[in-house]
Amino acid sequence: MSSEPTPSFPPNAFRRQDESPDALFYQAPRFVTHIDDGAIAAVTQLYREYFPANSTLLDLMSSWVSHLPEEVAYQRVVGLGMNEAELRANPRLSAYVVQDLNRQPTLPFETASFDGAAICVSIDYLTQPVEVLRELGRVLRPEAPLVITFSNRCFPSKAIAAWHALDDHGHLQLVAQFLRAAGNWHAIELLDRSPRPRRSDPLFAVVARAGAGPAGQTEAES
Ligand SMILES: C[S@@+](CC[C@H](N)C(=O)[O-])C[C@H]1O[C@@H](n2cnc3c(N)ncnc32)[C@H](O)[C@@H]1O
Repeated sequence: MSSEPTPSFPPNAFRRQDESPDALFYQAPRFVTHIDDGAIAAVTQLYREYFPANSTLLDLMSSWVSHLPEEVAYQRVVGLGMNEAELRANPRLSAYVVQDLNRQPTLPFETASFDGAAICVSIDYLTQPVEVLRELGRVLRPEAPLVITFSNRCFPSKAIAAWHALDDHGHLQLVAQFLRAAGNWHAIELLDRSPRPRRSDPLFAVVARAGAGPAGQTEAES
């Protein structure tokens, strides 16, 4: 499979206001939550639905919290992020890796070594999302779920230009387009899981299954 940039995205789509190394921006730990409790509960519920107990999970772009359901035990949860102090403080992680995915999009994991993966409120910071998602498709077992969640806020200077140009619905479509371009995902679902009535931050998700999938597999939006 080629790792060439995908021609369907204009080159400026992945530019950011702050092009300095991400290591500088993430140097100091931020022991904060990036979405409110209602939106976090929606993320946790998705994980409850998609990630089986006793499975091996990868929390990509992780911090000091993983939002996994407290009542569920997993065999192993590996985190990958930019700040070591945050990752060390994360009580759900069995192991962690500090890696800048915008410098090195190749994941340091064996092929087909995880049963599921999550990217929470972070996909908008990837300058090579197609390459990273292709790598995620490699390290997940066939049919394993990937749950990508996001709300309507971000660190503006570090989000890619394409993210700023789109609204919530556009973000769902953009993430689905990244997955299609990666070429090793199927059963892509676009979900609006915003808490109702709308008192909390909105919460959107794109879920997909690893592997090429059965021929004719459709996508769903709800
Ligand atoms: C808004 S925080 C979200 C953290 C966590 N997923 C959560 O739900 O609270 C963005 C996260 O993306 C990670 N991140 C940002 N840029 C990254 C990069 N270039 N490579 C790897 N991780 C990155 C940071 O370490 C940070 O933890």
